[in-house]
Formats: sequence, structure tokens, C-alpha cells
Amino acid sequence: MATASEIAAVGVIGAGQMGSGIAQLAAAAGCAVLLLDADPAALSRAVASISSSLRRLAAKGHLSQAACEDSIGRIRCVSAVQDLRDADLVIEAIVENEDVKKRLFVELDKITKPSTILASNTSSISITRLASATKRPAQVIGMHFFNPPPIMKLIEIIRGADTSDEVFATVKSFSERLGKTVICSHDYPGFIVNRVLMPMINEAFWALYTGVATKEDIDTGMKLGTNHPMGPLQLADFIGLDVCLSVLRVLHNGLGDNKYSPCPLLVQYVDAGRLGKKRGLGVYSYGQKSSSSKP
Ligand code: NAI
Repeated sequence: MATASEIAAVGVIGAGQMGSGIAQLAAAAGCAVLLLDADPAALSRAVASISSSLRRLAAKGHLSQAACEDSIGRIRCVSAVQDLRDADLVIEAIVENEDVKKRLFVELDKITKPSTILASNTSSISITRLASATKRPAQVIGMHFFNPPPIMKLIEIIRGADTSDEVFATVKSFSERLGKTVICSHDYPGFIVNRVLMPMINEAFWALYTGVATKEDIDTGMKLGTNHPMGPLQLADFIGLDVCLSVLRVLHNGLGDNKYSPCPLLVQYVDAGRLGKKRGLGVYSYGQKSSSSKP
């Protein structure tokens, strides 16, 4: 198995908000990146956003023009899981759905070389259960980046029940190679950050739903009253309301406490396709349609 410094080829599956940022980080760290998405349009959007993000960094002097163009050149879009067969590390960042992720892990286990480490960027799904879909549970691990990955300094590493010490050490060093600070969580629903964050976001939805205050006042209250850089409703829009709902359902099912039961307003927004900033409309409007805080 490759050590962190020997990880040369990284597969990233899912070229959405998270996968595109993860691909950018791995390419900037010198890895050859194979980027795969079921939707070709997502790949085109990802390449455009990675290129403009790296060129912005170069324009500000954070990296040289040559390093910027080299990084962009290290990213190759691919169209089939088989194209990832030689990756040293695969990071999955597809939709937050356990069955869909498990099917992908089964496929990855079959086609990647025996030494490949399989990581998931899941926000809440059990790494142990994803690992159990493979014949290499010792090489399956959670690598939870934060949004947007190039900016946020944290990676939360989740050890499944069978993740080996060697794989944990490799992924920890690789995360540091990406310039991140690492925290380690055992494999319980929501891990550390979402276990604490999602009940707050859910409570903010309840406050809006029950008419306690306007969305603006709820967010301003938490920004100025608790020194958060962004209010919980705006943060939910940035994360994606579908992702928030999925995580709350995992917390509710896994921990069995009604306090995690998703607010009906959050469910309704997701049902209506108001998924947040990525769709132009969530709790707030981002320049496409009009927004209303009323259920
Ligand atoms: P997104 O909706 O922006 O992107 C997901 C991408 O995966 C889409 O482009 C979709 O076409 C693709 N996809 C779906 N199923 C696929 C499959 N079977 N094979 C290949 N591609 C597939 O979602 P986002 O926000 O990037 O989230 C991805 C993962 O990262 C989820 O597991 C989420 O929980 C996790 N995550 C999200 C964070 C956030 O703030 N949005 C933060 C940390 C983790």
C-alpha cells in the first residue's frame, strides 16, 4: 500500500460541490486526479469551477501561474468506474444515500487494485456499513471534508470498525499533505461536527416554521449573538438542504431520539426542489427565483 507521500493517483467520484473541491486540492498537492460523475454536465461545471478557482488563487499570488496550469492539467475527467482501477486512493463524494454508495463501493472493490484505499466523504453514513459491502474493510475509511474543501481547514477522519491503523495513518498524513487539520471520530451517526451542527440547523428551521422570527433575524441572531460567521439557515443553504435532511434522518434513525426528527419545513423545501445555493433557491433566493420564508 502506498504511504501518504507515495499517493500519486487519486480517483474522485462525484463532481458536485464537494467532489470538485476535493479534486482541486488533490491536483494542487501534485496528484494525478481522475474525476468521475454520472452526469457529464457536472464534470464540465467542475472543470470550469476548478480552473477559475485556481486561476483566482494564481492572480492573488497564492501559487505561480505554472503551478496553476500544471494542477489543472493533472485533472482528467473519466466516464466509468473502471477508469479508476489504478488509483492509490479513491474518494467518493456522490449523493448522500447509503444504498447508492454501497453499490458504488461494491463496484470499486471489484475493479481497483488490492492496495487501493477507499474513502467516503459522507456527512453521516456509517463507514462500517459501507466497508461491509467490500472485501477490504480494513482499507475503507471516512474522509469528511467541509464546504468549500479548498477553503475549509478541517478534515474529519472516521475509522470504521475494521479500518486498519496503517490506513488511518496514511489517510491522516495525506490529509495533512493537503494542508488540512485532522480530527478523528469513531463511527457513530453524524460523527463529530454534524452531530452537533445539524440539531442547531433543524432548530433554526423549527423557529422559522413556528413563526418565532424571520429567517433574517434567526440568522443575524446566531451570527452576532454567538459569533458564527454565517447564520444556520444560510449555512443550510450552502451545505444543501437535501444533504441536511439526509444527515438528520441518519441521526434520527441511528440515535432513536425525536429531537433529531427533521422539521416539516425542511422536508417541504426539499420536496419542492429548494435545495439551497446550488439550485439558486433554498431558504434564501440566489438570483433565480423569488424566495419566501412561509411554509
Ligand atoms: P452534489 O449534489 O453537489 O454532488 C453530488 C454529485 O454526485 C452530482 O454531480 C451527481 O451527479 C453525482 N452522482 C450521484 N450519484 C452518482 C453515482 N452513482 N456515480 C457517480 N456520480 C454520482 O452533492 P455534494 O454537496 O457535493 O455532496 C456529496 C457528498 O459529500 C455527500 O455524501 C454529502 O453528504 C457529502 N458532504 C457534503 C457537504 C456539503 O456541505 N454539501 C459537506 C461534507 C460532505
